[in-house]
Amino acid sequence: MSSGGENIGLLEKPPVDAPAPAPEASARTRRVHIKTFGCQMNVYDSERMSEALGAGGYTATDTPEDASLVLLNTCHIREKAAEKVYSELGRIRAIKIRRAGIGQETMVVVAGCVAQAEGAEIIRRAPVVDLVIGPQSYHRLPALIARIQSGERGLVETEFPEEDKFEHLPERQLAPRARRQTTAFLTAQEGCDKFCTFCVVPYTRGAELSRPVARLVEEARRLVDQGVRELTLLGQNVNAYHGAGPDGNAWSLARLIGALSEIDGLERLRYMTSHPRDMSDDLIAAHANEPKLMPYLHLPFQAGADRILAAMNRKHTAADYMALVGRLRRARPDLALSTDIIVGFPGETDAEFEATLAMVREVVFAQAYSFKYSPRPGTPAASMDRQVPEPVKAERLQRLQALLEEQQSAFARGLVGRTVPVLFEKAGRKPGQLIGRSPYLQSVHVEAADAWLGRVADTAILSAGPNSLAGVIKAQ
Ligand code: 5AD
Ligand code: SF4
Repeated sequence: MSSGGENIGLLEKPPVDAPAPAPEASARTRRVHIKTFGCQMNVYDSERMSEALGAGGYTATDTPEDASLVLLNTCHIREKAAEKVYSELGRIRAIKIRRAGIGQETMVVVAGCVAQAEGAEIIRRAPVVDLVIGPQSYHRLPALIARIQSGERGLVETEFPEEDKFEHLPERQLAPRARRQTTAFLTAQEGCDKFCTFCVVPYTRGAELSRPVARLVEEARRLVDQGVRELTLLGQNVNAYHGAGPDGNAWSLARLIGALSEIDGLERLRYMTSHPRDMSDDLIAAHANEPKLMPYLHLPFQAGADRILAAMNRKHTAADYMALVGRLRRARPDLALSTDIIVGFPGETDAEFEATLAMVREVVFAQAYSFKYSPRPGTPAASMDRQVPEPVKAERLQRLQALLEEQQSAFARGLVGRTVPVLFEKAGRKPGQLIGRSPYLQSVHVEAADAWLGRVADTAILSAGPNSLAGVIKAQ
């Protein structure tokens, strides 16, 4: 759906509980409940934290009432996202009091981008919190938890440490619950140097950092050995990737994709999120030449008027974006596009908003995420003149979303009668039903044997509903 949501340069995911670390870890294990807000990078981080805690003897639980450690992995991208943390902490405080009544302790950790942005302020507003830990310090989590266990309280760890957290986290080991997982995220790049004037990411996630190629290939291999068939390379600006290659040179994302494509058993690759200015020639060519790279690209354009794009510090014009889309579609004619759009950026006039609608009509998106501009403390746009009144933002968002929803359902209907490869991921709610993903990330429901799980099958699409497609596997 085209909708607002917590999204930090990556697509929104609903809050999820991270996969469990090994339950067999120890007889007297402690339990951890992890709640993840925001984007896929937070989902990835939660998995890595869950694995690190699993190695330290924690097992996961879906119910915070059972947990001796509750960890919120938070999102700061818009005000609503950040406020959710405090209402969640209110609920956790009540649980902590109930548990204390039966002699059980509860440790409370706030991680993620709210932790990074607000630091000690969180403990001031919510004294129930024992530890605030920023996204660059997750490798220190087990040691910090040990300090809390020995009686320390109110710890705040939000420096950008010298060492690289990825080098200090345990190797990927999918938790048993996640072991049937056929898709996984892999953080290739983190942070952002673009400083769009509306965005907190450069402050919360820090400067751009690309992980070395060899590390990523190694992690990808481990995931594929454990049954993963589709990898999504993550980064706030993943197409600015320039990690150290085995030859000592900086490799582009296209080269990394080429190296990952060689892994036997890996069927599909995706990447997100991309900045239009970093769509290099070799990456565009990869869309033509790498069969494992899915024909689906998330490419935010934010606004249709050049004056607004300049005020946003996007450093591209609407015409640049259109020209890029043209080149991508020439390289890969069946490429479907998804995007992010902001309405009501400071100073946006009616005519400028119309330019955004015109751009959407011209490009035609398979999917899109649209948001009302939300002033974020410390960002340049928050103190710009002519903030747009809330009702105007709301009205613009509604009009934009109506157009985007029309395009999204037209795209889905356009697949009816066609055959597309579907990767089957899990059993459906009805017996005998499986759910998979089209190349365009739509859910596809079929009646088929479990043997198809983890496999890609050509599937004829029979019908398109509001949130999913129904199809039938073609005889192989
Ligand atoms: N207000 C509204 N939307 C925002 N985004 C980022 N910062 C803000 C903000 N302050 C949106 C952008 C970005 C997506 C991840 O979230 O569209 O691409
Ligand atoms: Fe934020 Fe802009 Fe960086 Fe994307 S490119 S993370 S919107 S600053």
